[in-house]
Amino acid sequence: MPSNSSLTIQQPDDWHLHLRDGDMLKSVLPETAKHFARAIIMPNLIPPVTTFDMAKAYHARILSALPAGMSFEPLMVLYLTEKTDVSDVERAYQSGLVKAVKLYPAGATTNSDSGVTDFDKIQPVLEKMAELGMPLCVHGEVVKHEVDIFDREAVFIDKVLDPIRRRNPELKVVMEHITTKQGAEYAREGGDNLAATITTHHLVINRNHLLVGGIKPHYYCLPVAKREEHRLALVEAATSGNTSYFLGTDSAPHLDGAKESACGCAGCFTATNTLSILAEVFDKEDKLENLEAFTSLNGPTFYGLPVNSKKITLTKAEPIEYPAKIETPDGDVTVFDPQMPLHWHVKI
Ligand code: DOR
Ligand code: ZN
Repeated sequence: MPSNSSLTIQQPDDWHLHLRDGDMLKSVLPETAKHFARAIIMPNLIPPVTTFDMAKAYHARILSALPAGMSFEPLMVLYLTEKTDVSDVERAYQSGLVKAVKLYPAGATTNSDSGVTDFDKIQPVLEKMAELGMPLCVHGEVVKHEVDIFDREAVFIDKVLDPIRRRNPELKVVMEHITTKQGAEYAREGGDNLAATITTHHLVINRNHLLVGGIKPHYYCLPVAKREEHRLALVEAATSGNTSYFLGTDSAPHLDGAKESACGCAGCFTATNTLSILAEVFDKEDKLENLEAFTSLNGPTFYGLPVNSKKITLTKAEPIEYPAKIETPDGDVTVFDPQMPLHWHVKI
């Protein structure tokens, strides 16, 4: 059991992270690497990381952007298209460098235009992945115009995900960034081949935070935050210690100009203060003893990877002031504001 002012846990990983490329990559990578040992790196670059060769090249760019003295292991992901080559996926997975494939329904979110429209076309890749034990990371939202944006996750589970899983019962699936009680329930009841990541921000905000009293572009992300009852279901899931759930921050940097716009981009940037926020959330629920399962144990177990050997210590003290913004050569990126004092300091 943790004491009520200090907690030592195995070093966390982030099982869903956007690092981008170029100057943005250089600016945001240290924010993750200072706390996390590894992260699943999202492939929605322009152009997307669709092949093993592209993943190798991106992996090398990430490592060369890492400041001297920091260590970090990028876990690479291939972006699934209707043209993805089965043997390329197999080579990528067997190399050990690529850990998963990402399914974006075409048009669901940032840079998802090359994603999948006809799910029958990806069946040969899914069959090979099931055989290999390679996880499929799923952005679980339908994109049909007639489906309300707040219902898109629940409809996706019924109409797309469940049929895919019935057709491929051996396929390992990660429901990425779940935002609904339906998502939490489906993940919990899905057996050993199914898990869900939960972001930091979806544990903190509901749709009122986004919309009441003026629109808050830095709280806009996809899937969009839902009603309070859904946030509460996510908090219950994350803090339960249940192996079906683990942390995927979906920390997604955009320049302030692109967020604070008539057509603002989706994404919350939480890499900087995620661990302090999570400790605060778990502490409020009186569930600090389950923080390690969520941040450091359940993810590696699902992905079949070892737990990190280093430890980190969180200590409760006077509130920390994290920077409000991260500077990049092209402008600032706003750090997610949890609108609560953060008492938990992180020491590696
Ligand atoms: O809010 C989001 N931002 N959701 C996503 O699925 C993509 C991400 C991004 O790349 O900015
Ligand atoms: Zn994402």
